[in-house]
This record gives sequence, C-alpha cells and structure tokens, in this order.
Amino acid sequence: MNEHDSIDYTLKVKELNDNRSAKNGRKPLAFIHTYGCQQNVSDSEHIAGLLSQMGFEFTDDVKKADLALYNTCAVREHAEQRVFGNIGALKGIKDRNPDMIIAVCGCMTQQKQVAEKFKRSYPYVDLVFGTHALPKLPEMLYNVMTKGRVFELGGEDVVTEGIPVRRDSKFKAWLPVMYGCNNFCTYCIVPYVRGRERSRTTEAIMDEAKKLVADGAREITLLGQNVNSYGKDLGGTINFSQLLRKINAIEGDFLIRFMTSHPKDATSELFDTMAECEKVAKHLHLPFQSGSNRILKLMNRRYTKEKYLSLIQEVKEKVPGISLTSDVIVGFPGETYEDFCETLDVVRQVEFDNLFTFIYSKREGTPAAKMEDPVTHEEKTKWMAELLAVQEEISARNMAKRVGRTERVLCENVKDGTVFGRTNENLVVRFDGDESLLGKFVNVKITRSDRSALFGELQNI
Ligand code: SAH
Ligand code: SF4
Ligand code: F3S
Repeated sequence: MNEHDSIDYTLKVKELNDNRSAKNGRKPLAFIHTYGCQQNVSDSEHIAGLLSQMGFEFTDDVKKADLALYNTCAVREHAEQRVFGNIGALKGIKDRNPDMIIAVCGCMTQQKQVAEKFKRSYPYVDLVFGTHALPKLPEMLYNVMTKGRVFELGGEDVVTEGIPVRRDSKFKAWLPVMYGCNNFCTYCIVPYVRGRERSRTTEAIMDEAKKLVADGAREITLLGQNVNSYGKDLGGTINFSQLLRKINAIEGDFLIRFMTSHPKDATSELFDTMAECEKVAKHLHLPFQSGSNRILKLMNRRYTKEKYLSLIQEVKEKVPGISLTSDVIVGFPGETYEDFCETLDVVRQVEFDNLFTFIYSKREGTPAAKMEDPVTHEEKTKWMAELLAVQEEISARNMAKRVGRTERVLCENVKDGTVFGRTNENLVVRFDGDESLLGKFVNVKITRSDRSALFGELQNI
C-alpha cells in the first residue's frame, strides 16, 4: 500500500460518513479506549488522527458511539481479562444499535489464539487489526463499511511516517523514537507482539519535535521499549544521547522526558548527557525487575544486581537530586523468598521515589511460561505486600524531603479549584489555582507531602 491508496480510502470513508451525517443530522462519533503503555496511547492518538480525517468526531460515551475502538495490551493476563470483559459488555449496546462498528486492535490481537477467539466467540466485533496494520485503517474501515468483518493481523516491521495525529493534550506530547524490542526478557510478550527494534530517522523525529515546540508543547516524552537502543539500526550514525542533545538544542521553554531505559544499555554517556542538557528532566525510570542475580539470569536481563547498583550510584553522582523510579516483578517462576529479599535489598539501597510492582503473569509463548512455578499466588501476594510496605515508607520519606523547597511545576489538570501539576522530577504537586494556569510552568512552594504527592502554594509569577 502506498500513501496515495491510503488517502484514497480516507476520502472514500469520509464520503460514506458525510452521507450518513446528512441522513442523521450529525457527524459519526468514535469512542477510543486505550489500555497499556504510552506506546499504545501514542498509537491511539494516531488512530484518532486518521479517524478525524475520515470525518469522525469523538465521544467519551460508548453508548453514543458509531465506532467503538479498543486498543489493547497483552503484557499481563489481568489486562487481557479486562478487555474481554469490556468487549463482552458491548454486545447489549450493539443489539440496540446494530450499525455500530466495533474494532479491536493493539498488542492482544497480535497473538494468534486471541485473534481466533475474537473471530469465533465475538461475532459482533467487526474489525480486528494488529499493531503493524494501523496505517491501513482507512482501507480496513472502508471494507468493514461496505463488505463485512475484517481481520488484518500480519505485517512487516516497518516505520510508517506521515500518519496524522490528534493529540490528547496541547502541551504534553508523546513522541515515539523507536518501535519494537529485541531483548526477549523471558517473561515478556512485547517482542512477540511489537516486532523487532526499528528507529525512526533523526530527521523525522526532529521535524516532529520542532513542530511540537512551535505549537506550544511544554513537555515532550520520547518513547520506545528500550530508548537506549535508539539508532543501532541506523548504521551507527547516531545514538540516543546524541538525539537527546539535538532535541535539547531546539529553542524554547520545554522539558524532555524519555522512557523506557534498559539497564544493560544505560551508559555513562547517557548520564553525562542528562547532566549537561538543561531541558532533560531530572528523572530516570530504570526498571530492574529483580535483585537476585539468579533470577535476573533466568529473566535474560543481561545485568547483575551489582551492575545495576553501580549504575544508580553513577547517575546519582552525575545528576544530583535525580528522581529514580523502577519496575519490579514479584514471583517470577522459581523465585524463592531469599531471591525476593535481594529485590527488597535493592529497593532499600536505591530509595526510589516510586516503584511499579507486578506479580508475575504467565504469558503463553514466552520461555518463562515453560518454567516450573511452584510458589502459590497467595504466597506471592504476601511478598508483594511486604515490598509495598517497604516502598511506601521510602516514598513518604523522599517526598517529605521536598517540603520547604520551591519547585517549578507544569500545570496539567484542574479540578474543583485544585491544580495538579508535575515537578521536573515528575512528582505530582497539588495546589489551589484555576484553568488559566493549564499548560504553564509556575513556581510552587511545597508545604506538605504524603507518600504519593506534594502539596503547595502558588508563588507570584
Ligand atoms: N520495555 C520496558 C517495559 C515494558 S512492560 C522495559 O523493559 O523496561 C512494563 C513492565 O511490565 C515491565 O518492566 C515489567 O516489570 C512488567 N511485565 C512485563 N511482562 C510481565 C509479566 N509477564 N508479568 C508481570 N509483569 C510483567
Ligand atoms: Fe519486555 Fe524486556 Fe523488551 Fe522491556 S526490554 S519490552 S521487559 S522484552
Ligand atoms: Fe502492553 Fe503492548 Fe505496551 S503489550 S505494555 S500495550 S507494548
């Protein structure tokens, strides 16, 4: 398919929609529900961009929707169950509104057995497409509207540029720099559903970043499953640190964030770059998953506890005051309580500001799914509670250290006279204020804290 075909189908769907609008006296409405990580959020913004070109407007109420689209995540079983639950609940809505189109896309559909299940057990789902088929949405939708059900699941690992984007926020932007993952951590489904690593060209990223800044973006988050691999497939002409420096050099008042970094590729060069680039936020999300060298090996993470701790020490020295966060898996197959205590040890030593904790979830088709997993879920839940208690105390202590400081805060949301913003270090701050502050950087004096947020007072600007 070339770009021309895609524009053709966009116009064809738009024509169908315009006819429908004339008949119904209103534009067709699309409802999009996104599960999973920021990569999916970004994909949904591109889906919305395409739908907008095809004449759709948007609704938050699925009952009013002419098109309901679910962009799914496969990373843990729980996420998948929620999707099946929500889509099951659509049957009643579709019975009352048979013209409604139901679409499912994203990581779940990339698994054969899941796509089969949608085909067989959910006959009212009209369109199922995988992560690689997104650019073909106009054609797929046209076929659904004129012929019937469409299943589009394969596709090459390519990077498609030029897809329109309808962003959820005017001042906070997601900017994918690479897609896919080559790491094959043994528990993880992502490499199977997202394909191999491929970087966007530096030109495409820079063009988008400059445009975002010109359009008023105050925060740009660079996305990739493993951003530190950026450029490895571009012939060694550029690496992630160099990309950060280029974006940092764009004129304007904005923050640069990035996620996710893999410890095996986190380099001194990255830490030096973070220290030297004034627009790069002082926050590093560096998942360690487990503190046990035996488990790390079984996970295929390719670093040791000691290596991880030495990276943390280095970044703390080079970027004073840096905020650190991480992901942890509890109860990997074969993990013992002694292994788990090594994880607790890392948590205690590093003193993360926040931790994202997950009980191991078996993913069919991954190597870990075949490993012996003798520890009961009940036992794992107890370990998790122990971990959370340790982390909550650390989080509360870390947050309390910020009381008395004045922080520069980007105002993100307002509700009932309370503004919710984030510091450079990505910590949530709440203070009194109104809509006029949205999208602005303001100074806030921190007066109080709890374990998950700071509270403060707006200072004269
Ligand atoms: N690419 C990112 C993370 C992607 S998935 C990285 O490598 O850091 C986000 C998190 O989900 C992972 O860091 C891991 O902690 C968790 N996760 C992934 N697969 C999981 C599984 N099978 N069970 C439980 N947690 C899992
Ligand atoms: Fe999954 Fe590991 Fe790739 Fe992250 S680096 S997406 S955890 S395989
Ligand atoms: Fe989930 Fe896919 Fe992201 S599996 S975590 S939505 S890459």
